[in-house]
Amino acid sequence: MTAESRTLQQLPSDLDPSRLPQHVATIMDGNGRWALQRGLPRALGHRKGVVALKDLLRCCRDWGIPALTAYAFSTENWGRPLAEVEFLMALFEQVLRRERAEMMRENVCIRFVGNLAALPASLQSEIAEAMDATQDNSGTRFTVATNYGGRQEIVQACRAIARAVEQGHVAPDDIDENLFERYLYTTGTSHPDLLIRTSGELRISNFMLWQLAYAEIYVTETFWPDFNRAAFHSALRAYQRRDRRFGKLQPSQSPPT
Ligand code: IPE
Ligand code: IPE
Ligand code: MG
Repeated sequence: MTAESRTLQQLPSDLDPSRLPQHVATIMDGNGRWALQRGLPRALGHRKGVVALKDLLRCCRDWGIPALTAYAFSTENWGRPLAEVEFLMALFEQVLRRERAEMMRENVCIRFVGNLAALPASLQSEIAEAMDATQDNSGTRFTVATNYGGRQEIVQACRAIARAVEQGHVAPDDIDENLFERYLYTTGTSHPDLLIRTSGELRISNFMLWQLAYAEIYVTETFWPDFNRAAFHSALRAYQRRDRRFGKLQPSQSPPT
């Protein structure tokens, strides 16, 4: 038995493996407040948040959830004090470098979505290398939203489509949901089935505005650094109790014909 397979933990028996979300997205919120509560600098909350994310990624693999997307930095987060922004950029770079070999071992395919061109050049190259190295990995599809904004994503898609129309590659009547989808950063990935937001905030803060149209939303008071397997288990239990109707009626609600 390898060290890795020893750490593999089975899906809790009260979860139905045939009804797991195929894509979980998370707004990792509350790092700062987690630190504040302990009289620690916010930076430590962010560091602890990385540990929580790593464990969630492993948990997705162990429990058979094929795709995870994490919101790491929003287009609005540039408005934070420069020291925090610089710390986060350096942290992303450091973590990517440090975790690359393990992502390979664990067969993770990592990708980044967002306006990556506006990130520091050294982070951009670390991102490119990580995406390149892991692109053929067939395990968990792990998407990190960095300098990501749902509005920005939609606007850049519109601009690209307008350009394609101008160049005669797309006719206005060809523009439908499927075509639009192809111009989003997330093209090729299924939409999230479950959105988890930690720290109790009841908003989506510009995250995946298009893709979350029919996601089940789960909010927990837990701050992100404390979001562990037990917390994820609770989220999945809640998800499995939901009745996903997608605008239709359940057979039991339909009038007899
Ligand atoms: C989420 O935690 C991480 C990022 C936005 C980068 P916060 O930093 O927003 O923590 P709080 O909300 O201030 O507690
Ligand atoms: C959302 O959290 C962004 C990330 C988790 C990266 P914020 O802390 O930025 O959101 P608001 O400001 O509470 O809406
Ligand atoms: Mg926050």
